[in-house]
Amino acid sequence: TPASAQTVVSIEREAEIGTIEPEVYSQFLEHLGGQVYGGLWVGEDSDIANTHGVRDDVFAALQALQVPAIRWPGGCYADLYHWRDGVGERTPRENMAWGGTEEPNTFGTHEFFNLAERLGAKTYLNVNLGSGTVEEAADWLEYITGTGETALAQERRANGRSEPWTIDYLSIGNETWGCGGRMRPDYYADLYTHWASFMFADEQKPVMIVAGPHDGNIEFADEVLDHPMIGDVSSGISLHFYTLPTSDWSAKGAAIGFPESEWASALERTLRMDGLIEQTLGVIDAHDHLGEDYGLYVDEWGMWVDETEGKSSLWQQNTMRDAVVAALNLNIFHKHADRVPMTNIAQMVNVLQAMILTEGEDMVLTPTYHVYEMFTPFHGATSLPVELDGPDYRYGDIAFPALSASAARMADGSLAVALVNADPNSDHAVTLERAGARSVSGRVLTGDAMDAHNTVAQPGRVAPQPAEIRVDGDRLTASLPARSVSVWIIK
Ligand code: AHR
Repeated sequence: TPASAQTVVSIEREAEIGTIEPEVYSQFLEHLGGQVYGGLWVGEDSDIANTHGVRDDVFAALQALQVPAIRWPGGCYADLYHWRDGVGERTPRENMAWGGTEEPNTFGTHEFFNLAERLGAKTYLNVNLGSGTVEEAADWLEYITGTGETALAQERRANGRSEPWTIDYLSIGNETWGCGGRMRPDYYADLYTHWASFMFADEQKPVMIVAGPHDGNIEFADEVLDHPMIGDVSSGISLHFYTLPTSDWSAKGAAIGFPESEWASALERTLRMDGLIEQTLGVIDAHDHLGEDYGLYVDEWGMWVDETEGKSSLWQQNTMRDAVVAALNLNIFHKHADRVPMTNIAQMVNVLQAMILTEGEDMVLTPTYHVYEMFTPFHGATSLPVELDGPDYRYGDIAFPALSASAARMADGSLAVALVNADPNSDHAVTLERAGARSVSGRVLTGDAMDAHNTVAQPGRVAPQPAEIRVDGDRLTASLPARSVSVWIIK
């Protein structure tokens, strides 16, 4: 591919945006399609190698990502979930949020909290506001966290877990303007403050999150946050934003074999995340009764394309376009590290922009997985401001900077730099000014086509490779391949 004009990247080493909380790299696990059953959980009697029912291959892959936190059990499913169905004797139900499929409830509270504990991940519990009661939710928290001799703590012990687990984050309801109950914002705010008053978790103090808007309804956040007592019982509000190639929910666009117009429109749409975060932070800041560190939790985001015939609900192939979308968003989150303490990509296995796809006993790591693995040096690093001067990528009326970059200082003083070439056609030369490098290493992820992806037959078609970076005095230069994501470590 022909090289395009030079982009110059400058990092402001003396200025600091804030810590990139590891939880920015969190995951979302909903009971949906082939995610929990088959994708993650196969049960102890399965022929697929597993530990206490969780697939060993999937577990090891997740472990390598250092998953910082997991949101569970939904999504829309959370507002249908009755926790008692999933402890002790299990009660099968229909999953009415997702096509009425059978929900055996063999993966329940114990299985989720044990999984998180084994992974060293924090827990983000979404309680059922839509079709549950405050008593049911309060009982669930006592069951999970109770330390005393209460009936619920004893029941947990009888079910095999003596020590309480930790609930790190708690949300009451999900998308309450939609699948979570089609509520008006003031009604939800009243319910939230009422329910939150009874969400005791023994001595634990989970971070309390209000279910907020999706892309088109920022005013929902505005009105929920108007409630004078919402700041007394919550520490932040969530935002959901999905990237559709076409912006049309009835014809979102294909996962593979798509035209360049849908590469361009998908990336243009995903870049709106930056403005949405700024807009929502503006709404938060306009409410003086909220604490100064009131946070924004982007607890659902990612690519959403048309479903694939013959596959489970919301299964979609994951391509080089997904990798670029993931990295563009992660760069945006780094830029807002001071105000966005957690994000949850949707979702983990076999659903939407998944890390992992499974087919029976086989497992495939997606291009998005590789981005998450390459970006692990950013967990807990200090985000630094970055300036970028270079050409745009253009398609028809669409234009946006061909390259995107972010940088952070790690605990040992080295710099991590993420560079995305969002141009599907041309390599781009990049120069990093005042790099101060004694040594540099890097990896690059690219594909031979916009929709390059991995399959069971070809699992390594998209995989990170060593990057070629030239040290030229105080500058670093490289050619970033078309449609690529790079991470450099500068010592
Ligand atoms: O991630 C899939 C669904 O998208 C979630 O269940 C819901 O919250 C959102 O609409």
